[in-house]
Amino acid sequence: LNEKEIACTRPPGMTLLDFIRYEQNLKGTKIGCREGDCGACTVLVGSLQQGRMQYKSMTSCLLPLGNVQGNHIVTIEGVNLEQGQLNQCQQAMSDEGATQCGFCTPGFIVSLAGFCLGDKLPTKENAIAAMDGNICRCTGYKSIERAAGHIATKLEQAPADKLEFLVANNFLPSHFKSVAKKIAAFQGLNGEPEKNNPALKKIGGGTDLYVQQADALINADLQFLSNDEQLKGIVLEKNLCVMGSAVTVSDLKQSTIFRKIFPKFDQYAKLVSSTPIRNMATIGGNFVNASPIGDFTIFFLALGATVHLRKGNEKRSLYLRDLYTGYKQLAKEKDELIEKISFPLPSKNDFFNFEKISKRTHLDIASVNTAISISIENNNITKATLSAGGVGPVPLLLSRTSIFLEGKSLGINDWMEDLLKIARSEIAPISDARGSSDYKYFLLCQLIRAHFEVLKNERAALT
Ligand SMILES: Cc1cc2nc3c(=O)[nH]c(=O)nc-3n(C[C@H](O)[C@H](O)[C@H](O)COP(=O)(O)OP(=O)(O)OC[C@H]3O[C@@H](n4cnc5c(N)ncnc54)[C@H](O)[C@@H]3O)c2cc1C
Ligand code: FES
Ligand code: FES
Repeated sequence: LNEKEIACTRPPGMTLLDFIRYEQNLKGTKIGCREGDCGACTVLVGSLQQGRMQYKSMTSCLLPLGNVQGNHIVTIEGVNLEQGQLNQCQQAMSDEGATQCGFCTPGFIVSLAGFCLGDKLPTKENAIAAMDGNICRCTGYKSIERAAGHIATKLEQAPADKLEFLVANNFLPSHFKSVAKKIAAFQGLNGEPEKNNPALKKIGGGTDLYVQQADALINADLQFLSNDEQLKGIVLEKNLCVMGSAVTVSDLKQSTIFRKIFPKFDQYAKLVSSTPIRNMATIGGNFVNASPIGDFTIFFLALGATVHLRKGNEKRSLYLRDLYTGYKQLAKEKDELIEKISFPLPSKNDFFNFEKISKRTHLDIASVNTAISISIENNNITKATLSAGGVGPVPLLLSRTSIFLEGKSLGINDWMEDLLKIARSEIAPISDARGSSDYKYFLLCQLIRAHFEVLKNERAALT
């Protein structure tokens, strides 16, 4: 934790936020919502990857101690310079008057420090995006954005391996230089990952569970999946892409394999939560959460994904579309673990698209979302899979709509109105805070039209 090595006997289900504030008396990290929304509690979590420390911003209010064992935690106190003057991020915020009541400022500074330590190009846009999980209630965004712009400009001179640069130029204190060595010394001390004990409550990133039941989890018997190497990784096996269930949204974004299959993935991921949540949220957690609007459930449903389950030594596989039996009801025993997720690799004639509408473009859950996967031969659709969220009690695979699409010509789409009629007959949206039932019927139809607009434009761009 910052410069200090911590060995502790506190319950692993306790949140890092409570540990750092109340056990370590580091009060710079603030508590706003305790739901992952405001970013006041943002910390950096560093892990050793191929000899280098990689830092990710996370919301400490949703982060159990068990998920950070063997990592370097950086709080706002940990980015203060030894000499006492402001570091570059603090100075830029101060110069721009980017802090009013100051409550949110530590979170912003920590996110900016994470940007400095990361591999993203030093542009103002990327610096601002790094703070997409931070909310300022005093609304000083323009001055914060200008401060982010100054930081991006100053980073333009930094070499690829920039830790020395960051320390020499007052972005970070010098103790960062010795962290990799300290963390390496911990490796092997963590012991084996918890064996899959069906009796333990499974925690992925905790971004769903800790919003719902943080207090109950403190002293629960838990199995932490996030750092279990057996549940990580994205690989190609014959004609399948196979990924561990503890892969996070950010892991997908960084995977060269995944980016090659889905060149537009950054565009999709941008619509999902915020950087800190994407750094924590696992795909397995998104499936088991069973929200009718789970973005990755909808995404992988259209890909014909399979989940590979394990309980003790018993293993079985199930199509993702068969996992959902009713609202938050799963065709899976409570203590079955999703180990892996696989989906067939699209061929070069296949088209995939994901669309999401929410009340805000970013950092919001969907009113309606949908994905489509289509195989095309000679301008005809040979196979189609269309999924839709927010329009029924479970994430839906629109099977009749998908079958209707087969054999249709892309040249003449006089079938669109009939297609939408079938889609409407397969859904039963309810009116709620995300929109009225009528609005959701309308939205899904518009998003289906959008899939085909995107397809038309992409095909036109190829000719
Ligand atoms: C601020 C905020 C914004 C969000 N925005 C979005 C959004 O835009 N789109 C969206 O889809 N979701 C969103 N979410 C919801 C959440 O982040 C996702 O559903 C996430 O993928 C859950 O994954 P997790 O690993 O954090 O789940 P956890 O909270 O760790 O677990 C969720 C459930 O899954 C079980 N579980 C986890 N992994 C496994 C496994 N491998 N096998 C068996 N059971 C398992 C747990 O026991 C628990 O019941 C948001 C959440 C927050 C806090
Ligand atoms: S307290 Fe708001 S995100 Fe953690
Ligand atoms: S400065 Fe007051 S909440 Fe951001």
